[in-house]
Amino acid sequence: MLTVRAPATSANLGSGFDVFGVALERPADVVRVERASETTITVTGVGSQYIPEDPAKNTVGAVVEELDAPAHIRIDKGVRPASGLGSSAASAAAAAVALNELYDRGLSREELVPVAAEGEALVSGEAHADNVAPALLGGFTIVTDDGVTQVDADVSLVACLPEISVSTRNARGVVPESAAMDDVVDTVGNAATLAVGMTRGDPDLVGRGMDDGIVTPERAALIDGYEDVHEAALEAGATGVTVSGAGPTLLAVCRRSDRRAVAAAMVDAFDAIGVESRAYQTAVGDGATTHR
Ligand code: HSE
Repeated sequence: MLTVRAPATSANLGSGFDVFGVALERPADVVRVERASETTITVTGVGSQYIPEDPAKNTVGAVVEELDAPAHIRIDKGVRPASGLGSSAASAAAAAVALNELYDRGLSREELVPVAAEGEALVSGEAHADNVAPALLGGFTIVTDDGVTQVDADVSLVACLPEISVSTRNARGVVPESAAMDDVVDTVGNAATLAVGMTRGDPDLVGRGMDDGIVTPERAALIDGYEDVHEAALEAGATGVTVSGAGPTLLAVCRRSDRRAVAAAMVDAFDAIGVESRAYQTAVGDGATTHR
């Protein structure tokens, strides 16, 4: 029996659409595995009623196939599905680490990225590694066709999850097929600023660098109250706010000392338009961890 905790993650960070991701200190999924001749999956925790336990339809089932590692698997969800916080990636990453170890497959964390991404593909229709990479490696990750670059980063965050759901499939439908060169130039500049900010642990650079005029405005339009909550977070001290992954979570960057006020301001702003929400006061954190 082996237990692995894998963190929620936030992909895109505005200017790094399908490229940037961060691991969050919290929330997280916990996956327990035990060798078996036939795979069974049980799911408990937040939103578990929406997650299929049939291995052919579960992200973790795809990981079992990839590693040829049948097991009795228990998934305890801490990351709500369809939240924009890498819920399926957390389960897939935890299962990949656990089954790799249980069956002694000897794959490195980097080698597990495409394995866990197969699980993602089952849910979203396309294999994006921008959530599974930080869930496996921790810190801030940059995913390109040539591989993954990772750095640890000391940056405080607030992830505010409203009680509305936006499916990744719908949110991909609003992504523009092309962009104006002016917007591309702005976004490249912001993405570079953000990456430097992560390496320096500088919330001002990270916040400024999250700005994106290409994908984020389309995604924001799917989230009730986005403008109000964005504004409230900035007024409370956030240095930048964007859509986390495909939404509906909003991710704010701030100084550690402003985290509580930013979290409260975001929840209050959602509340003012009649939307319940929960704010996680968190930070860039570690990747999946094993517990025996
Ligand atoms: N980069 C992806 C998106 C993350 O925003 O659609 C969700 O898988």
